[in-house]
Amino acid sequence: MKEVIVETKVTACTLDEMSPSMRQLVEKAKAMTQNAYCPYSHYHVGAAALLADGQIVAGSNQENAAYPSGLCAERTTLFAANANYPNTRVAALAIACYTNGHFTKDAASPCGACRQVMLETEHRYGQPMQVILYGDEVCYVFDSAADLLPMHFTADSLKTE
Ligand code: THU
Repeated sequence: MKEVIVETKVTACTLDEMSPSMRQLVEKAKAMTQNAYCPYSHYHVGAAALLADGQIVAGSNQENAAYPSGLCAERTTLFAANANYPNTRVAALAIACYTNGHFTKDAASPCGACRQVMLETEHRYGQPMQVILYGDEVCYVFDSAADLLPMHFTADSLKTE
């Protein structure tokens, strides 16, 4: 028996330290928090996907009185991007959270289901998708969605040798 350490590379930075295009994507995710439909949790999440051709597709969380029928901002956004531009790769995804009258100071942390959908998007286009998690005090930038989901399950896992 031996212990295995699983490491993840992530860059911690502030908004000012990002490139102008990354900053623009984060600003869009922040703006999208205001479009969240979250009368139950009051937790506003915004996401913005940068497509390989420069277009930005954005979304927010959409709740429902039948709670499980709602959807997170990240999946709303990625499904919209993939549904409308199925042949255009998603190069980057930015996420921001707003609650109690302010953006969270800690970086947004996507739920497991959203991480799985990010991974599928990345695999679908065969190239890493950058993921930017906004926080008022610190942001985290991952070079690949796979880094957010160690020991992940993908189409490769379905192969029978
Ligand atoms: N939420 C997201 O939009 N993204 C996540 O990754 C985590 C949670 C939403 C779902 C729900 O509307 C609210 O935040 C509280 O869980």
